Amino acid sequence: MLAALAASGAALGNVSKVDVALATPLRASMRATDRAGTATPASSARAPRPPGYAAMRDANVYHGAATMDRENRGLDGLLPSRAVNDEVELARARAALGQCESAFASYKQLVSLQTTDKRTFYQLLRADTADVLPYVYTPTVGEACLRFGTLVQRPHGLWVSLNDAGSVRRLVRNWPERDVKIAVITDGERILGLGDQGANGMGISAGKSMVYAACGVPPSALLPIQLDVGTNNETLLDDPLYIGLKQKRERSEAYDALLDELIVEIRDYFGPNTIIHFEDFAPRNAFRLLQKYYSAPDVVTYNDDIQGTAAVTVSGLLASVRALKGTNNDLTRQRVLFFGAGQANIGAAELFVKALVNRGVDEAEAKRRVWLFDSKGLVVRSRASELSDAKLPFAQDAPKETDLASAIEHIKPTALVGASAVPGAFTQKVVRAMSRSNDQPIIFALSNPTSKAECSAEDAYRWSDGRAIFASGTRSAPVEYSPTKTFAPGFANNAFIFPPIAIATILTGAKQVTPDMFLTAAEALADSVGDDLFRVGAVYPPVERVASSAVAVAAAVASSVDDSSTDTLDRWRELVRAYIIDNDLFDSASRL
Ligand code: NAI
Repeated sequence: MLAALAASGAALGNVSKVDVALATPLRASMRATDRAGTATPASSARAPRPPGYAAMRDANVYHGAATMDRENRGLDGLLPSRAVNDEVELARARAALGQCESAFASYKQLVSLQTTDKRTFYQLLRADTADVLPYVYTPTVGEACLRFGTLVQRPHGLWVSLNDAGSVRRLVRNWPERDVKIAVITDGERILGLGDQGANGMGISAGKSMVYAACGVPPSALLPIQLDVGTNNETLLDDPLYIGLKQKRERSEAYDALLDELIVEIRDYFGPNTIIHFEDFAPRNAFRLLQKYYSAPDVVTYNDDIQGTAAVTVSGLLASVRALKGTNNDLTRQRVLFFGAGQANIGAAELFVKALVNRGVDEAEAKRRVWLFDSKGLVVRSRASELSDAKLPFAQDAPKETDLASAIEHIKPTALVGASAVPGAFTQKVVRAMSRSNDQPIIFALSNPTSKAECSAEDAYRWSDGRAIFASGTRSAPVEYSPTKTFAPGFANNAFIFPPIAIATILTGAKQVTPDMFLTAAEALADSVGDDLFRVGAVYPPVERVASSAVAVAAAVASSVDDSSTDTLDRWRELVRAYIIDNDLFDSASRL
């Protein structure tokens, strides 16, 4: 045998080993298969695929081993023969999620489920909201945006780049759904506290859309959009896996023209009442665009980073004030120091002033209760020439101050709200300063993800001797402060605000989403926090309640929109529930 092989090798002369291998019958048949894979014969390319092929790839149809109507869809033989029900598929999805070894792996698992089997995905999102949201939304979505270029899943959402100027109409009309009610648009310039992530910002638009869905907005009504206008993030520009345009951010009028074109086409195709939700724009554009489109006739729009955050922050302040013991438990007695003077805190400062004015405080006096602190220190009049239009109304008549603890000693605020993305800014000295002038200092460290938080819950309780009323921007684990006291602090998240605002807007047909609507949402959310939560130090409902809270908050907002309506709050609750049930295409509400 060995001799025969040697002889045949000798007879082949200088033919390569590879050619010898391919000359064997087995290799020859593999070669034919390879060829078939790369160059399909013309006759078979024209033959239509059986319908089961498309059905398997349609996330609205494919439902794992629970896929229905197999015979009609040509699916017999393409799935394991034993059909199961929704419960089994849900259990399978939970098991798959349980096998993920990191938060990012869980994110990938969930996004993959969303793009292959929507029914199971949305059922899981509704049934296990508190477990699923931290992966598809904050905090994991931040990591997902950082690593977006390594995702191999089918991308979700609509991608509109500078190169599409003039043809956005065609792109919008490629979207497979016609009943879109909310377009979540980002340009990726200020993703959470992570800065410019360019086209990777799609993770945020998609994540926010999932929060809407978790609260009962039908998934087909949601359109996540990434506006790709370049990035100034050098790491991304150097990354061969970066998915966006490899150019610096567009700062000329071409930027505005592209956004205008997009908004016109969205309204033209999906209807003029389509909500334009602006998400994670940098301050330079966020305030400007909100003002521009808010005052445009009939454009239904809001900026979640400004207005949604404002409402959730003011809600936390309202609830905290109710939790205060003694005579200080009145919003009009509060003095708030906002650390970070960007979209989040300026929006919150404006809404806080509105809340005071609604309670009878003169506007000028209300503004004196608000102090802003930005990267250059206290926002004071002597800095007027360098202050933006948004900060200027809050500039106080006071000396310059660049040290936060000293500013606290001087101002003696009752509440300190951090939205600066400066990790650890609330040092022991800062928390101690707050605790010296307040029996129960209100301290919110709202920046997220967790790596950007101004302080941890544990530090806030420890440094205030357990007296702080604390809330964070990302869910904190319970803190065992003493053998007899465990805190389970609240989690300030816009997820409690933007879904009910949208539902109320859709149901009432409101033509503008007004500051009053956001204030009503804040008040309704605060009202839903009861003594059970105060006892453990929480000023927000737990995230498990995000969907039920959305019903109550949406009803309150809707009833405030139309004064002439005779519908009571209870009636609005029924209408909100009916909207959710009637649009529940994936039978997910029944999982609550
Ligand atoms: P932004 O970029 O508009 O504002 C950041 C502000 O922080 C700027 O005014 C900047 O001057 C200030 N700042 C930077 N360095 C500073 C320093 N050393 N000292 C004092 N101030 C400093 O950002 P935005 O939208 O206001 O968000 C800020 C943070 O809040 C982010 O981490 C964001 O993720 C978080 N956030 C949390 C929300 C929640 O629901 N928990 C909602 C919205 C934002």
